[in-house]
Amino acid sequence: MTRKEEIEKRRTFGIISHPDAGKTTLTEKLLLFGGAIQTAGAVKNNKIKKTATSDFMEIEKQRGISVATSVMAFRFNDKQINILDTPGHKDFAEDTYRTLTAVDSVIMVIDCANGVEEQTKNLMKVCRMRNTPVIVFINKMDRDGKEAFDLLDEIEMTLGIKVCPLTWPIGMGDYFQGVYNIHKKNLALFEANKTKISQDVVNIKDINSSDIDEIIGEESSAELREELEMVDGVYDAFDHEKYLSGEVAPVFFGSAVNNFGVKELLEAFCEISPSPRGRESDSKMVQPMDEKFSGFVFKIHANLDPKHRDRIAFLRIVSGKFERNKFYNHVRLNKKFKFSNPTSFMASDKSVIEEAFPGDVIGLYDTGNFKIADTLTEGEKFMYKGIPSFSPELFQELVNLDPMKSKQLDKGIRQLIDEGVAQLFIQQPGNRKIVGTVGQLQFEVIAYRLKHEYGAKCQFEAKNFHKACWVTTDNNEQLQQFLRAKANYIAHDKDENIVFMAETPFLLANAESDYPDITFHKTSEFMLDKK
Ligand code: G4P
Repeated sequence: MTRKEEIEKRRTFGIISHPDAGKTTLTEKLLLFGGAIQTAGAVKNNKIKKTATSDFMEIEKQRGISVATSVMAFRFNDKQINILDTPGHKDFAEDTYRTLTAVDSVIMVIDCANGVEEQTKNLMKVCRMRNTPVIVFINKMDRDGKEAFDLLDEIEMTLGIKVCPLTWPIGMGDYFQGVYNIHKKNLALFEANKTKISQDVVNIKDINSSDIDEIIGEESSAELREELEMVDGVYDAFDHEKYLSGEVAPVFFGSAVNNFGVKELLEAFCEISPSPRGRESDSKMVQPMDEKFSGFVFKIHANLDPKHRDRIAFLRIVSGKFERNKFYNHVRLNKKFKFSNPTSFMASDKSVIEEAFPGDVIGLYDTGNFKIADTLTEGEKFMYKGIPSFSPELFQELVNLDPMKSKQLDKGIRQLIDEGVAQLFIQQPGNRKIVGTVGQLQFEVIAYRLKHEYGAKCQFEAKNFHKACWVTTDNNEQLQQFLRAKANYIAHDKDENIVFMAETPFLLANAESDYPDITFHKTSEFMLDKK
C-alpha cells in the first residue's frame, strides 16, 4: 500500500459529551461494530466515577485502565479508525481539550432530554478554535425528550454551528418507531434490544408511498411527511465542504444503549469524515503527505507502578512515516532520540510497531524527556502550535510539610505539571507554588502521587483567585507600571511568562480598563503565536 493510501484510509476522532449523555455507551457500540471488543461492558470501567472523589485506589485503577483505552483502534469497512478517549469527568476537562488537538473530527453526543449542557458548550468552543468538523448524535431517543426541531434550534443557538439532519426520528420515548434516513431514503425500525446489533431497514423510494403508512401507521407517516417537508424548507442540503470546515454539523438520531442508529452513524462517519489533516507549526503548515516525519505529544501518562518512573508519551503523527529505531529530533531539547518499543493501540492489545503513518497515535516510553506539546521531527526545527493552557478555575498553594524532601517535592510537582495534571504559577517573594486546576479532584491526585511516587509530603491551602491571565503588551512602560502596582498579584508560569492572578472578576475588569495597552489572555494560546 502506498503512503498516500495508508493516510487516506485513516480516521482519527474523539467522542465528546456532557457526562451521562452516552459517550461511553456509544464508544462501546462503535467498538462492537468494529469487532474490536466482543462484549459490552469492556469500556464502561474506564469511567472515573463521578462519586469517587477521594477513592485513590479507584483513581489509580482508572489511570491504569485508561492507558489501555486512551486510543482505541479498529478497522471498519476499508477504514482504519482511531478513537481517542476523552475523559468525561469535568475535573479532567483540560485533558480532553488537549486530546482534541490530536483528532481530525469529533462526534458530539447530546442527550435528547437534556439538550445542550454546560460541558457540551465548553467542548464545542474548543472545537470552534480549530474548525474541527463535528457530527452530532442525539441519543436516548427511546426516552421522552425535547422535540427534534427544538433540539436543533438549541444546538444552532447555543453552540454557534449550523445543523443539517441526515436522519429524522419518528416519535420518541415509548412511541419511538425508528428513524428515516434522509440521505439514503430508507427507514430503520426501532426495537428496544441491548444485544442485537443490526436493525431492520426498509428502503423507501418515495416518501409518499403507502408502504410507509402500513409500517408505521397513517398518523405517524403523515406527521413524518410533514416534518420532512419542514426539514427540507428550513435546512440546506448537506454540504460536505461546509462540514469539513466546521460550519455545518450533520445530525443523527438514535439510542446507543439499544444499538440503534449507531451503524448508520459509523457508515456515514466513514464516508464523510476527514482523513488526517495537516497541522500548523510555528513556521509553516505541515501536511500529512510531506515527505519528512513529524509529530507532537498531546498526552503523557505516568506508569502505574511507582517503582518505575517511566511514562508513556502519546504522539500524534502529522507527516511522513514514523519508523522504529530511527533517530528523531526532539526540537525543544535539540537532542536526538530513537525508540525501540513504540506501541500501537490496536484493540486493547498494546503491541510494538515497526512503522506508523499520519493520523496514528503511538505510545513512546519516556523517562522524563517529554512535556505536553513537544515536537519530534526528522531534523527540521519547528514546534506545533495550538495546544493551549486554559486559565484554571481553582487555585491552591502547595505547602511542603517535610523540609528534608523539598527537592523531591520540586521535582515531583514539575514532572506532574509536564504531564499536564495541573498548572503551576510561582509567586515571589519566597518561590511560592500556586497550583491551578479545573477541578478539586486534581489536588487530591497530586498530593497522593507526590507522596507515593516522590516521597514528598505536602498540603494544599486554598487561595482566593478568580482567574490567572497571561499578560502581553507592546507598551513596556505601562507593563512596568502594572507590575509595580500589582506586585502582590503577579506570578510566572512554568515557561516564565508573566501571569496576573486576579482575585475577582471586578478586579480583572478594573485592570483591563486601567491598563488599556495590556492584553489579558484567558488561554496561553497566544504564546504559540508569539514565537
Ligand atoms: P457518559 O459516558 O457520557 O457519561 O454516559 P454513559 O455512556 O455512561 O451513559 C450514561 C447513562 O445513560 C447510562 O446509564 C447508560 O446506560 C444510559 N444510556 C446510554 N445510552 C442510552 C440510550 O440510548 N437510552 C437510554 N435510555 N439510556 C442510555 P446508567 O444507569 O448511568 O448506567 P448503567 O447502569 O445503565 O450502565
